[in-house]
Amino acid sequence: MPPLVIWKAGLDGFVTDEHVAHYARSAGPGLCIVEATAVSPEGRLAATQIGAWSDEHTDGLARLAATIHDSGAVAGIQIHHAGGRTNAQKNGGLPILVPSHTEKTPDSAVVLSGLQIEKIIEDFGVAARRCIAAGFDVIEIHGAHGYLGSQFLSPSTNKRTDEWGGDIDNRVRFLTECVRTVREEARAAERPVIVAVRLGVLDGGTPPLTQDDGCAAAIRLAEAGVELFDISHAGSLPDVESAVPWSQTLELARATKSCLDVPVIGVGGIKTPAQAEEALDAEIADMIAVGRAILADQAWAAKTIAGTPEQIALCIDCKPRCFHFTDPEKCPPRRAARSRDA
Ligand SMILES: Cc1cc2nc3c(=O)[nH]c(=O)nc-3n(C[C@H](O)[C@H](O)[C@H](O)COP(=O)(O)O)c2cc1C
Repeated sequence: MPPLVIWKAGLDGFVTDEHVAHYARSAGPGLCIVEATAVSPEGRLAATQIGAWSDEHTDGLARLAATIHDSGAVAGIQIHHAGGRTNAQKNGGLPILVPSHTEKTPDSAVVLSGLQIEKIIEDFGVAARRCIAAGFDVIEIHGAHGYLGSQFLSPSTNKRTDEWGGDIDNRVRFLTECVRTVREEARAAERPVIVAVRLGVLDGGTPPLTQDDGCAAAIRLAEAGVELFDISHAGSLPDVESAVPWSQTLELARATKSCLDVPVIGVGGIKTPAQAEEALDAEIADMIAVGRAILADQAWAAKTIAGTPEQIALCIDCKPRCFHFTDPEKCPPRRAARSRDA
């Protein structure tokens, strides 16, 4: 199960009973990666996003890790900073921090100084420490979907001329430094903790992040110690329309896997267990994540394991946007699954 925000935290980023119930109901995947979790309050993508910016968040995060472990799964969590993809309503009026100004960033956005960049990297490390203390086995750094990691990677949003911008080695530096600091925390743990990156390898920006750049970034990140890649698109600030559609992100995993020796998770458009199996057989990726289809029918994995895939209420790719971004109870298969399984 890939990270999927459900917008249920209070304004202070604390895990709620609704989160715990949601992850318990979704039980069945072998690895469950908890939704994007903010490393600092100004980096929130939504006011109702979970946070790991305070020691006080650790107990709630531990409830989630325990819930996932109780289902027999490995517990992962995605740590995240939105960079310029936020606004005053979402981040409580704190500064909006960006690698560079572009024609799409708000005038009020603050271009990050070297010191501020280092502070955010440190925030990733401290957030990882809290998540490890909470019991998580996989720490996934968000480097996709137009958020801060992608903003550094993409030439359309990174116009810097210092060591954080320019060629791909410089543009990936923010993520490799996050990996180094998270890896130190993982190494200090008394049990194995895997460092993962959700890497956006392609976007439709001007100029675009190309798949060649994406592969070069992945290779640098593997050298920095990434042990698991979760491949997706890189979006583009702030018009997500220029992102690659989810139906095509699985192919990005195939292309990136071909340049790496590190396990790769592929995601995008998988609706049925048979499709997931086919993707594995075709060696598109080493692991397959199933996102909206699990939101549509939270017993997706349980029904697959039970050998009753015909009972899954299938995700129907709602257009223009998946209801789980705004109003999950309107998701047609979720309604069908709830009444059928009641
Ligand atoms: C409601 C919703 C919330 C999402 N939240 C996250 C998130 O927190 N972090 C992330 O990296 N991707 C997020 N995604 C993207 C999914 O993890 C996944 O990559 C995408 O839905 C494509 O996979 P699918 O076709 O199986 O749904 C979200 C997608 C949806 C629909």
